[in-house]
Amino acid sequence: MPAGPFDTQGGLARDLATLARAYGVDAMTPATFDDLRAARTGYFATPRDYYTSTEAQFSGLHSPEGSVHFGLAWDGRFHADGFLEQAHLVEALVRRTGARHVLEIGSGKGLNGIELARRNPDVSFAGVDITPLHVRIASERGAGLANLRFVECDFHRLTPWKDQSLDLVFDVEAGCYADTPEKLHASFAELRRVLRPGGLFVTFGWCRTNAFGSLDRQAQLAAELVERAWVVHQFPIERSWDRAAGEVGFAAGERRDLREASMPSVVRLYRQARIFYASLASPARPLVRRLMRRSTHNAVSALMLPHTYGLGALEYRMATLTAPRAS
Ligand SMILES: C[S@@+](CC[C@H](N)C(=O)[O-])C[C@H]1O[C@@H](n2cnc3c(N)ncnc32)[C@H](O)[C@@H]1O
Repeated sequence: MPAGPFDTQGGLARDLATLARAYGVDAMTPATFDDLRAARTGYFATPRDYYTSTEAQFSGLHSPEGSVHFGLAWDGRFHADGFLEQAHLVEALVRRTGARHVLEIGSGKGLNGIELARRNPDVSFAGVDITPLHVRIASERGAGLANLRFVECDFHRLTPWKDQSLDLVFDVEAGCYADTPEKLHASFAELRRVLRPGGLFVTFGWCRTNAFGSLDRQAQLAAELVERAWVVHQFPIERSWDRAAGEVGFAAGERRDLREASMPSVVRLYRQARIFYASLASPARPLVRRLMRRSTHNAVSALMLPHTYGLGALEYRMATLTAPRAS
């Protein structure tokens, strides 16, 4: 994958040194952010707290349109409409399979569901999310669409949906919150329950690559810092994700590496993070310091993520799974 300047250990070492300086430690480790007494960061304990408390950054710096995911670009440049590309890839599958009942898990502020419901009025769409603020914003934004609703719900227990009641379920950068082997198994079992035989699950998100265990320690550390920043216990290794899906009967389908397509959106945030950390040395330093605790989640992940792609620690992919045809 062409990764610009992000495929060298030197570039990562420089950015890790920037973080160590900013947080006043000799060297970064995931534990840097665990010492709550040192209060170096404003890290939050749950995804719900993280997304609620950083909402102003997401809508101010990342996407006023309401995206809480990275956009995709096929020409190497960032465009705001790239935030809709995942929805358009899902739409192609909805149309190809003739799906009539579609659910998004971890639907955030509703950008994907609203785009899909608007363009496909004969299909019924729903979204579930665990963050009440996101559900409220999504519901307000989608209020005019009769074929769309948002529900506050943990995607590991989709109790509002009956067995085999859905044709297609998808997630955009939310499935990573099934972040232990037990939660991954529970989420696949629940998806199998609600999907009709032969129904489709489509995911966009991260895995640790199969090569993760043999990588240089710093490349692993970059991935661990991203996980910590997003309040993810651990992304699954790609092959263990496949195995867990297979264990509940899903058949693997399409697999598309989207790191290159997401790079312009990723690098846009990386640049903002570099400016943020550089400003710690400027006369605005006291103000930036005040913002720092709350900004840590997104600034650390923005600084580390492109290195994890360039050095092969994380992959960002689209994957589809098909539910078994006979129960
Ligand atoms: C990176 S955001 C993606 C949001 C949305 N899919 C988008 O594309 O803009 C991840 C979302 O997953 C939600 N989430 C995390 N854990 C969840 C869970 N167990 N059940 C439901 N939603 C969850 C978060 O609240 C957040 O809205």
